[in-house]
Amino acid sequence: MSMKIAILPGDGIGTEIVAEAVKVMQALDLRFETETALVGGAAYEAHGHPLPESTLKLAKAADAVLFGAVGDWKYDKLERALRPEQAILGLRKHLGLFANLRPALCYAELTHASSLKPELVAGLDILIIRELTGDIYFGQPRGRRTATDGLFPGAEEAFDTMRYTRPEIERIAHVAFQAARKRAGGKGGKVTSVDKANVLETFQFWKDVVGQVHAQYADVELEHMYVDNAAMQLVKAPKNFDVIVTGNMFGDILSDEAAMLTGSIGMLPSASLDAADKGLYEPSHGSAPDIAGKGVANPLATILSVAMMLRYSLEQPEAADRIESAVRAVLAAGLRTPDIWSEGTAKVGTRAMGDAVVAALTGKTITPS
Ligand code: IPM
Ligand code: MG
Repeated sequence: MSMKIAILPGDGIGTEIVAEAVKVMQALDLRFETETALVGGAAYEAHGHPLPESTLKLAKAADAVLFGAVGDWKYDKLERALRPEQAILGLRKHLGLFANLRPALCYAELTHASSLKPELVAGLDILIIRELTGDIYFGQPRGRRTATDGLFPGAEEAFDTMRYTRPEIERIAHVAFQAARKRAGGKGGKVTSVDKANVLETFQFWKDVVGQVHAQYADVELEHMYVDNAAMQLVKAPKNFDVIVTGNMFGDILSDEAAMLTGSIGMLPSASLDAADKGLYEPSHGSAPDIAGKGVANPLATILSVAMMLRYSLEQPEAADRIESAVRAVLAAGLRTPDIWSEGTAKVGTRAMGDAVVAALTGKTITPS
C-alpha cells in the first residue's frame, strides 16, 4: 500500500530542511506518494492567502502531512488573517489536530551544547503534550474596540478569551496518561499537569477535569504544577519531569524552554495528532529567516519528524527506529550543523547532514569530510 504524504515546506529554512527529510524518506524501502504545496508566506505571495483551499484539501486527503515552517518579519504589517502563522493555526483547526507531542531528548553527544550544566541534562527524555486547538489561541470573543464602543468607556481596548470545554480537556488528558504508560513500558509513568488554577478559572477547570480523568489511570502518577513554577523547575531539575500536559499557550512557551535544555531547538521534532492519530509533523523550530538560503540550517528536527510520522500515523515503527539510529550514527561520527557545533567536531551544512543520514540509513560508514 502506498502512503499519501502532503509536503508543505513553507517559508525561510522550511524548503531546505524539508528537502533533506524527503531525501531520507526516499531512501527507505517504503512506497510514498508525495505531493507538495505552498503554505505560509510563500502561498500568500502566489495565491494571496497563507492557507489556500487547494493546500488544505491536499492536507485533508493525505495520510500524513510533513510541514516545514512558516513566517517572516516582512509579513508583520499584514492584517492578522493573512499572516503566515494563520496557515499552521488553520491546518491545526481544520484537521482537528488537538494533541501536540513535543519530545525533548538530550542526545549524549550534545550534552555540552546545552546552556545548563551537563549533569542536569544528561539523559534527559521528557515529553511535552500541548493542547493545540483550544485556549486563548482560539477562544471567542476576541478583537479590538475603539474608544467609543469599549467595555470601559473612553478607553481603546484589545481582548482575547481563554476558554476550554470539558471534552477538550478530557481528550488531551487521555493522550497524556496513555503516553506516560507507553513510555513506562505499559504501566506507570508520571504526568505533570501544568495550570494557573490559583488565578484563572479556565485552569481550575482544567485541573479538576485532569484529576477526574486520572481516576481511570491509577498506575500513572499525577502531579499538578503552576505554570510559573513549572518554568522554573524545567531549568532547575528537568529530569524530574516525565510527561507534561498543558494548554495551548503554556505549552507553546514551555516547549520552547524545554527544547533549549537539549542544546538546540534544531534537533526537536513534533507531532500534531487528531483523534484517529492522523497527523501533521514538523520541526519544533520556526522559519529562521536570518539563516534562510544559506544552507546551514539543521535538518535533523525535520528528519526526526519523519520518524515520528512513521511511528504515529503510518504504523512503520521499524522504519522510525532506523531513522533515529541513523541520526545517532551521524552525531556519533562527529557531524554537526553550526547550531550544534563545538570544538573538535566537523561543521557541515544542511545538505551534507541530510546526505550523511541517508548514508547511515543505507549502512555506509559516516566520515566527516
Ligand atoms: C509553535 C509556533 C506557533 C504557535 C506559531 C507559529 C503560530 O510558535 O508551533 O509553537 O504559537 O503555536
Ligand atoms: Mg511556539
